Amino acid sequence: MKIVVQGFGVVGAATALNIVSSKNFKNNYKVHCIEKKNLAGVNKIENARMGKFPIETTDKSMSIALKKALEKKKITFGFDTNQYSKADIVIVSINCDLKSKNKINLKEFVKSFSEIINNISSNTLILIESTVPPGTCEKLLYPIMKKNLKKRKISLSKVFLAHSFERVTPGNNYLNSCKNTFKVYSGINKSSEKKCYNFLKTIVNFKKYPLIKLKNITSSETCKLMENSYRALNIAFIDEWVKFSENINIDLLSVIKSIKMRDTHKNIMLPGIGVGGYCLTKDPLFTKIASKQIFKLKNMDFPLSTKAVKLNKKMPDTSLEFIKKNVGFSLKKKKILFYGITYKENIGDIRHSPTVDLAKKLRKLKCDVFFYDPLIKVIKDKNIKFYDIKTKKLNFDLKILTVKHKETHSKTFFKKFTSDKGIIFDLNNVLSFDKIALLKKRNSPIFILGR
Ligand SMILES: NC(=O)c1ccc[n+]([C@@H]2O[C@H](COP(=O)([O-])OP(=O)(O)OC[C@H]3O[C@@H](n4cnc5c(N)ncnc54)[C@H](O)[C@@H]3O)[C@@H](O)[C@H]2O)c1
Repeated sequence: MKIVVQGFGVVGAATALNIVSSKNFKNNYKVHCIEKKNLAGVNKIENARMGKFPIETTDKSMSIALKKALEKKKITFGFDTNQYSKADIVIVSINCDLKSKNKINLKEFVKSFSEIINNISSNTLILIESTVPPGTCEKLLYPIMKKNLKKRKISLSKVFLAHSFERVTPGNNYLNSCKNTFKVYSGINKSSEKKCYNFLKTIVNFKKYPLIKLKNITSSETCKLMENSYRALNIAFIDEWVKFSENINIDLLSVIKSIKMRDTHKNIMLPGIGVGGYCLTKDPLFTKIASKQIFKLKNMDFPLSTKAVKLNKKMPDTSLEFIKKNVGFSLKKKKILFYGITYKENIGDIRHSPTVDLAKKLRKLKCDVFFYDPLIKVIKDKNIKFYDIKTKKLNFDLKILTVKHKETHSKTFFKKFTSDKGIIFDLNNVLSFDKIALLKKRNSPIFILGR
């Protein structure tokens, strides 16, 4: 069976490798991945052909799976849209971006969908796994599908459309998280739903994580947006409590720890530097926009989801104020090192990274800013330079921990990072209670956000 994946990014690459490696590579799937023929796309494809996974990650199983799939000739890559004509299943894993805070770039998404519709053959399932605004499949894609298939004299009943969003967790458990997850799905009609169910069953651990069918395709689209809006809101909630606690001398982390003891309050968030990444910065805005852009509904303002995005974007300011308040000297011309530049741990993705944001704010205060990250060596802003902590001395005015990459758990890392000079700031719960206690015992200067 031939599966074509449109988009070889953070999600598409993981999806492709999850499919080929299902049943320990003993399946009948051959996957072809299609990318855009621009510089970034060509780079991804050329590297993948040589066995290099497109995103740096601590999850080694990704590159192992890629190499094995190449060896077994189960995966190929390219740019030719004609490949859609040979597919039994096409999976759409491309980006659907915000154009502005009030508009989604649906034109681009629909254009990419047309590339598929203009090429596919009868008996193909199109499975949308991208996060799209509610109504996209039913109100935008399906009408295009009807019109174009008619033109191409392909029966509408022979092409199937379903939505099942991706719940991957990029990071240390990246590949596993594709298989071991409760997949939600729905189809535009019963036959699409059935095709989708039969396929998903073969690529996820459905006995432990049963598939969840929703009433219709718009419910599936909405589900992803609601779950991400909830998470963004949950994170935003903590900011006002951090600000409050900084003024009244309490240990907020211990307060939260005791709240978490209650079963109903387990997922309250800890203080942190803020929210980054591709999804939580845009998804909570999608439904409000779709209400107007797609459903023409009035007065659907989604005040909480909108406010959550705003608050989360400003969260690095809370960290900046925390630093300013505690250093006790002017930050001008001070030498600062960040440990961790990615938006989250164990994945080399810096989209909307709150650390980059904070680093830029410190640059504006005329600080000399450096970073070390095991997964990223260069960022766009050339004024924020990579500093190799593995080979150099660590004499800085401030050393700021922002990302809990896997290596931060090791004794070697702790020894190195706390050697030489510098006030340590932990803005994201990177150090364990024991390590903090040790530093305090040594009278090392350390400040922890939320304590
Ligand atoms: N990143 C995550 O953790 C995550 C998790 C769950 C869901 N999602 C959702 O999955 C979707 C993809 O996200 P991502 O993080 O992988 O984005 P990405 O930018 O990493 O990857 C998207 C890829 O699609 C390619 N592309 C765009 N149009 C194309 C076309 N017409 N033909 C071929 N390739 C094309 C782009 O070049 C890019 O490489 C988004 O809707 C996102 O919201 C992301």
